[in-house]
Amino acid sequence: PRTEPEIHPGLAGVYADTTAISRVNPDTNSLLYRGYPVQQLADTQSFEAVALLLWNGELPTDDELEWLRVNGRPHRPLRDDVRAALDALPPGAHPMDEIRTAVSVIGAREGEGESLHEGGATREENVARALRLFAALPAIVAYGQRRRHGLAPVPPDESLTYAQNFLWMTHGELPDPVVVDAFNRSMILYAEHSFNASTFTARVIASTLSDLHSAVVGAIGALKGPLHGGANEMVMHVFDEIGTADAVGPWLDAALAEHRKIMGFGHRVYKHGDSRVPTMRAALGALVEHYDRPDLLALYEALEREFVERKGIYPNLDFPSGPAYHLMGFDTPTFTPLFVASRVVGWTAHVLEQQEHNALIRPLAAYDGVPERDVPVSR
Ligand code: CMC
Repeated sequence: PRTEPEIHPGLAGVYADTTAISRVNPDTNSLLYRGYPVQQLADTQSFEAVALLLWNGELPTDDELEWLRVNGRPHRPLRDDVRAALDALPPGAHPMDEIRTAVSVIGAREGEGESLHEGGATREENVARALRLFAALPAIVAYGQRRRHGLAPVPPDESLTYAQNFLWMTHGELPDPVVVDAFNRSMILYAEHSFNASTFTARVIASTLSDLHSAVVGAIGALKGPLHGGANEMVMHVFDEIGTADAVGPWLDAALAEHRKIMGFGHRVYKHGDSRVPTMRAALGALVEHYDRPDLLALYEALEREFVERKGIYPNLDFPSGPAYHLMGFDTPTFTPLFVASRVVGWTAHVLEQQEHNALIRPLAAYDGVPERDVPVSR
């Protein structure tokens, strides 16, 4: 007898493959990148070193860091073709549409589509492409913000680290070390998170033996949604809507009465708290002190306390990172593109892994439409 297939909506609880890149353990609220706790990496490493760890499996030697510097830094300036494509978009285009377009232009110029019929790129070529993209994204994100504010792009500074240079290209001035440290931590914390929706999208695309930039373009589309990366931007809208800490209670009463989802809370995997939050919350605390904004922290704490009390649902990484990016001087539409600049490392690491032991990702669907029928004769 035929048994009915078991359906897993949203693939919740389904293991689709193995991965050696990161381990999320919701029972202990822990997240490991290649075996290392992400909190320790955020406390001690540069984002560049973590990128090499995720791609290669080990923390880099000095020579490997030098390889990253030599091969990445020439790709920091905003390319003319990318700028022309961005300038051709309508003013007010969504920043995620901008960055998706930019990655598409870069992919076409990399010429990787042309090598598909020859078996596609080698791992080495793909690591080099991942590095070039990683190096090119800050200029695109920074230009997006500057363009919105009528400002000219700022050329990169070769002498600066990734985090320093990103802030430099956004603001045109050298940031305080407190700000650089908070930004570097956020980039490390956002870099990788196992089979989340955007990474899985990238793996689906890679599994057809399509190219690396196509996988990243698809992943950006998945990240854009408010249930995923779009939440960090929405968190800031919530802060703006509430205004001050003493308004949290009545605001929450009304929002929950309307069955609104409160952005920055909840997670598909973590049900007792997100492993990345304490590190980002500490970085937010340092920024609040640096910029003397206790009002923002009061609002953060009041919303966290009251929402957890009422719903028993904990904040995710987007909750502290939203206000942290605000304090760092990023405008709200830039928040999700910042997530892209970081997660591109995880996505590309997963593309490499998918290609190493590829199986086409092609699940089944149980049909529940109308039964078979004949097309009416009169047609
Ligand atoms: N506000 C209000 N209720 C919530 C929230 C929330 N943020 N999150 C979950 N719930 C409720 C939900 O309404 C549901 O209630 P009920 O069982 O009565 O229908 C229950 O909790 C289970 O939620 P779910 O949406 O079915 O769970 P999920 O595992 O599919 O969702 C989630 C995870 C992240 C989509 C969801 O928690 C959510 O929409 N959160 C807000 C958006 C957000 O912050 N996203 C960022 C995710 S983490 C980092 C990232 O990817 O950027």
